[in-house]
Amino acid sequence: MHLHRYEKIWLLFGVLSLIVFLSIVGITAFAHGHTPAGGMDIIDPEKVNETAPFNDPGVKQIDKDTYEVAIVAQTFGYNPAKVKVPAGKEIIFTLTSVDVVHSFTIEGTKVNMMVVPGRITHKSYTFDKPGNYLVICNEYCGTGHHFMQTEIEVYQP
Ligand code: CUA
Repeated sequence: MHLHRYEKIWLLFGVLSLIVFLSIVGITAFAHGHTPAGGMDIIDPEKVNETAPFNDPGVKQIDKDTYEVAIVAQTFGYNPAKVKVPAGKEIIFTLTSVDVVHSFTIEGTKVNMMVVPGRITHKSYTFDKPGNYLVICNEYCGTGHHFMQTEIEVYQP
């Protein structure tokens, strides 16, 4: 096969740019200590109902200023359906899914968790003001996706 001289130059240029590009990406990733997304524990999605804390989902007080809320997401709702937590305390949301990917998105806050079967997702949040907060699923999860919502009641302790 005969390659024209210019064709060879362009091929070489392409290969070299690729090497330079991948080297830059690789070196900066190492230099900045990038790692795959962490903070996700693993759970057997078929044994969620037997695995703590999801065997007894709901609100638990951990200490004076910290609460954990374990919630199971499934098509098309959350268990427990109704959650009551105090304002001004740290609330650690701990979620998993028993079927497909959902989300746990609390309107008007920065809480926007992806809920993945086989994984446990945590998010800590402190509600400043009491009130009712709407929670929606923003990952399309099936025909009932748009019905998938719940409410968190935040009370003044
Ligand atoms: Cu669950 Cu959309």
